[in-house]
Amino acid sequence: MDLHTIKTPSLVLDVWRVRRNAAAMSGRIKGLGASLRPHVKTHKCVEVARIQTEGHAGGITVSTLAEARAFAAHGFRDITYAVPVEPGKFGEAIELSNLCERFALITDDSSIPPLLDEAARRAGLTLDLFLKVDCGYHRCGVEPDRPEAVEIPRRIDAAKNLRFAGILTHAGHSYHARSRAELLALARHERDLMAEFAARLRSDGVEVPTVSVGSTPTATHYEHLEGVDEARPGNYIFFDAFQATLGSCGFEDCALTVLAAVVHRDRARRKVVLDAGAIALSKDRGPVELDSSCGYGRVLGLGGEELGLRVGALSQEHGEVLVEDESLLDALTVGARVRVLANHSCLSAAQHTHYHVLEDSRVVDRWEIQRGW
Ligand SMILES: Cc1ncc(COP(=O)(O)O)c(C=O)c1O
Repeated sequence: MDLHTIKTPSLVLDVWRVRRNAAAMSGRIKGLGASLRPHVKTHKCVEVARIQTEGHAGGITVSTLAEARAFAAHGFRDITYAVPVEPGKFGEAIELSNLCERFALITDDSSIPPLLDEAARRAGLTLDLFLKVDCGYHRCGVEPDRPEAVEIPRRIDAAKNLRFAGILTHAGHSYHARSRAELLALARHERDLMAEFAARLRSDGVEVPTVSVGSTPTATHYEHLEGVDEARPGNYIFFDAFQATLGSCGFEDCALTVLAAVVHRDRARRKVVLDAGAIALSKDRGPVELDSSCGYGRVLGLGGEELGLRVGALSQEHGEVLVEDESLLDALTVGARVRVLANHSCLSAAQHTHYHVLEDSRVVDRWEIQRGW
């Protein structure tokens, strides 16, 4: 099988780039003296996680309980579920902690420790619970200068059936950085804020076993990780048009594309329509703050070469591409195939059931995606 014969739209994964990205981040985080706990939400794929954790302790981060179940069933037994836990998920979290050597949860709410402690006591086990810290993203987490930042760890410490796992943050605001200098400043801030907060908790008598940080834009920029124990980047394994525009990687590092076919050509309007729409690509607007013409993805030739075209408009199963160049418009007949480098690989991957694994120009395998919640 090759890119001329597999069905469209579908995901094409350049496995050499995946291996190269994995090795680069592994070496980088190890070299900085921390452990790597990759976030598998980017790919939700057991084979990719095995590549990512080669030579590491094997710990992973997940964003859904479905990922946790699937990865635990495939031998990953040290998992952090990095979305704040709420009581509706306690039962499943307890089941998962029975399947794992360590299954850690996170919270930023002072009502959770006593409730989770009671659920763990009834189940007869002890659960690991992190404090989620807000280092500037303001999605969730507690800012270190808030009273809850000390109160929650104390409550966890005091609970008989909970273990305080440490402090964890995600610098998601790094996606809005305007320059590499700004990215570097955000990476330093994420690291230093967490290291200083851990030192303060320790001087208050709270043991902090793990200081956990991580996003791809910051993980590609730290120059040291003193005071930090682990990093949890996720997107770096595939990268995407957003990360390349932001400066986390080069376009030649992007490993995931969506194979698409031309289903309509309109010479008068100088456009073609692809069978890859919002579902196949995602509607993530990507690096629009840095490149107002980024559209929803870059259109590449089958060999991965840049064609200078963007997916400009999307509906559910249609992606519109304006084609000014006459010879390109001639070539893009109905049935012609292209690859789209979408803005956000995590969101594109989550819409599909599997990857076609590409080695050179041959499709050599099919890897499943563990979807759902
Ligand atoms: C809590 C948490 N940790 C780590 C990550 C990984 O970030 P990235 O995909 O930028 O590497 C995410 C991504 O959303 C996250 O939410």
